[in-house]
Amino acid sequence: MSPFLLTRTLPEDATDAALRADVLHGLGSDPKTLPPKWFYDAHGSELFEKITELPEYYPTRAEREILLARAGEIARATGARTLVELGSGSSEKTRHLLDALTGLRTYVPVDVSESALTQAGEALAAERPGLDVHALIADFTGGLAMPDTPGPRLVAFLGGTIGNLLPAERAAFLTSVRALLSPGDALLLGTDLVKDEGELVAAYDDAAGVTAAFDKNVLSVVNRELGADFDPGAFAHVALWNPEHEWIEMRLRSLAAQTVKIPALGLAVDFAEGEELRTEVSAKFREEGVRGELAAAGLDLTHWWTDEKGRFALSLSTAG
Ligand code: SAH
Ligand code: TRP
Repeated sequence: MSPFLLTRTLPEDATDAALRADVLHGLGSDPKTLPPKWFYDAHGSELFEKITELPEYYPTRAEREILLARAGEIARATGARTLVELGSGSSEKTRHLLDALTGLRTYVPVDVSESALTQAGEALAAERPGLDVHALIADFTGGLAMPDTPGPRLVAFLGGTIGNLLPAERAAFLTSVRALLSPGDALLLGTDLVKDEGELVAAYDDAAGVTAAFDKNVLSVVNRELGADFDPGAFAHVALWNPEHEWIEMRLRSLAAQTVKIPALGLAVDFAEGEELRTEVSAKFREEGVRGELAAAGLDLTHWWTDEKGRFALSLSTAG
């Protein structure tokens, strides 16, 4: 069994302070919002894994198809000795990369979900003698500090999670990733692509209601952490396509006029009947847009691969 190390770069109470600030700001805004990283407590991470297995949720299968087809090419192009993965979750698809990267010494999964990191990291360390697994509990939008591990480094950001950042956040994020890269390092980025509206909406509003439960889980997190009295049953999950921004918007619609108390913040928040709280966007991309956003951050796109049906893309870029 190889070593498994878990490092917390966020102090325990930072999560609490950040949640308070985000809820105070988000529920005080018009329209109301809540930032996406609070979806992923242990229950949220489990629900997300169920989403990846839904018939309607194609991104996971499409990205896996590309990884299976291209992992060898990625290994040859990067020669990575360290793989850093941002928002690694269960690290399930990453196994295809780990299999192909024959010179790999160290895997650094980075996530805000401690439960997902511990489960995935311990399993990988047990299965793969010779691979050091150094998991980091960290917010990838909050200034990344990397452990001192051998290069070349490959930074992977899969799942289309970059689409959950707003355009200005994306630009800041890519610039901070660029700053982590030395000559010879690379970024492997998964981006979901613009496609038929019906197919997109179904992926975020499945028939079995798993995505609805995932969306509402953010209310349970606020209830548990801040003593709020949200009734998840008093909200409906809504997913819609915004053609102007080319993103899916996830919202929670209040089914009645109601007041929610949040004692930890000394707040009472009014919702009108039909009022919507925006919980998440999931932007969809085109090749030229991805190339342009990478270039603006000082990254050169060198490879662009899609699945057979052209639904999802993986790109490789280097620090120019
Ligand atoms: N990479 C996996 C999981 C994608 S879900 C896949 O492709 O299936 C998004 C993951 O990012 C979750 O595990 C969530 O906990 C993590 N995450 C979301 N916001 C984050 C943030 N700001 N910092 C670190 N991790 C974050
Ligand atoms: N990164 C995922 C995506 O944008 C996250 C996600 C999938 C998600 N389904 C969701 C977020 C439903 C909120 C609600 O595809």
